[in-house]
Amino acid sequence: MNDTLKTINNRVSLRGYDKKDISKEDLDAILEAAMRAPTAGNQMLYSIIVVKDEKTKKILSKTCDNQAFIATAPVILLFLADHQRWFDYYELNGVGEYCEEHGLLFEAPQESDLLLAIEDAMCAAENAVIAAESLNIGSCYIGDIVENYEIHKELFDLPDWAFPIGMLCLGYYRPEQPRVIKERFDREYIVFEEKYRHLNAEDYSKMFASREKIYREDNQYKAKNFAQMFYARKTGAVFSKEMARSVRVAMKKWDGRILNKRKIHD
Ligand SMILES: Cc1cc2nc3c(=O)[nH]c(=O)nc-3n(C[C@H](O)[C@H](O)[C@H](O)COP(=O)(O)O)c2cc1C
Repeated sequence: MNDTLKTINNRVSLRGYDKKDISKEDLDAILEAAMRAPTAGNQMLYSIIVVKDEKTKKILSKTCDNQAFIATAPVILLFLADHQRWFDYYELNGVGEYCEEHGLLFEAPQESDLLLAIEDAMCAAENAVIAAESLNIGSCYIGDIVENYEIHKELFDLPDWAFPIGMLCLGYYRPEQPRVIKERFDREYIVFEEKYRHLNAEDYSKMFASREKIYREDNQYKAKNFAQMFYARKTGAVFSKEMARSVRVAMKKWDGRILNKRKIHD
């Protein structure tokens, strides 16, 4: 196995960090690697906010579903799916008027733009993860950053078309830190040849056999099987409802409204 594959295969999500700060050299290398990620049309539809401020980290540790370890990460990288820059640039350069003259619609960013920007942002984030790992810096994504949109918008002074989609906690591995490599589903259930493979009950039974071992009848959710327990703990949990609410609020801005003859910021 070459060094790149070793780095990928040895990575774990790290939630406890060595106390020392991330060196400027290492952080620069991580950010440069993030910016070398592929990006749709070379537009770089993302921004990265580097967070070191203890107060901000503390707030994030609460607003992101009360995960205390977030505050202990020496550095946090916030990845925004960002169309604001391009639309500000369009506005500065008379794109609205140009569209008017040429019978084109000048539309605000919409769902498709957001999805593309998310693809961009997450390509950059994963490059950061692998670069960090190669420097003995562990990372952990925080999906809960999509909660509490209004609070995060204010905290980071976000414009409407910059959506916080990914967050990474970063810190050096502690010396001799044990790594538990977590099992994945078998490849046959995830990778298909040429067309989608619809899984049947037998497939699911095999696919989940190993994960179902953690199910206990006396679980706190009164669930009768692993699926019910997992739904109660994750998909149907309070934090998921907050994610749904928060994203719905943010999505209202990505409405594709006609911008011709109007100022973008009205
Ligand atoms: C989009 C995304 C969101 C995640 N959110 C969290 C999170 O909020 N808190 C956390 O502790 N881990 C989070 N993780 C880490 C996953 O729990 C972890 O990747 C998974 O359990 C597999 O473990 P591994 O990364 O060590 O292989 C997230 C990972 C991804 C990709």
